Amino acid sequence: MYVQSAEAPRRKPVTVPLLRAMKARGEKIVALTCYDASFAVHLDEAGVDIALVGDSLGMVVQGRASTLPVTLDDMVYHTALVARGLAAALLIADLPFMSFRDPDTALASSARLMAEGGAAMIKLEGGADWVCEVIARLAAHDVPVCAHLGLTPQSVHKLGGYRMQGRDDHAASRLRAQARAVSDAGAELLVLESVPAALAEEITHEVPVPTIGIGAGAACDGQVLVLYDMLGITPGRRPKFSKDFLAGRGSVREAIAAYAEEVRAGRFPGSEQTAG
Ligand code: KIV
Repeated sequence: MYVQSAEAPRRKPVTVPLLRAMKARGEKIVALTCYDASFAVHLDEAGVDIALVGDSLGMVVQGRASTLPVTLDDMVYHTALVARGLAAALLIADLPFMSFRDPDTALASSARLMAEGGAAMIKLEGGADWVCEVIARLAAHDVPVCAHLGLTPQSVHKLGGYRMQGRDDHAASRLRAQARAVSDAGAELLVLESVPAALAEEITHEVPVPTIGIGAGAACDGQVLVLYDMLGITPGRRPKFSKDFLAGRGSVREAIAAYAEEVRAGRFPGSEQTAG
């Protein structure tokens, strides 16, 4: 294990069944993206429940224009780095673009993220029928799956940009149907990205799996942000739904702890970070 501080309090490892229990108890789940071992230690010791190695690393670490060029090798590499820094947080890794295009490929890609990278769960984007078939196959092989609906960045060219999804009635009922479908297919967790707060709240009540929102209002069972956005170090404009937690604080650790505390207390996201 990488440089865990000797004085850091020991926590019980966060597990998939624990996430369900947290939803049942109404305890908010705190998630953050993470891409290397040093930040992983900070996340873990600040009490973050989930470290997500997102393919957002293509943009915030590799400086690319989208997540599409991220490879499975990139994801395995960064997942293994993060795994070395964690003691308790659950490690989720993204399946990158085209690495889950059919059930066999998805199984082989997930096996690498789990066996070589040390991930405890994989995340994949979309809610179409073929994605549900992939989820069902992974679940049948005991691969815990986090689904991702709403703004799915791997579909940026089809969506025509990074914009809020599910705004009109038709799009909203489609998203609700997809949320039920990924849950029925066996997903254990559901990320809702850039959807109206009221829609995210309905979905959160409708599905048994915990929902983790990003730009989806405060009613989700948990929240996730891109680490570099919430530290204010992403070049360019910060997304409106994020917040600079490092501003006015002395260290990365304090910023992450403040984020965890605000999510658990239901103060983040507030009205400034919420649309719809
Ligand atoms: O890739 C990523 O970082 C993500 C989060 C924004 C949910 O998918």
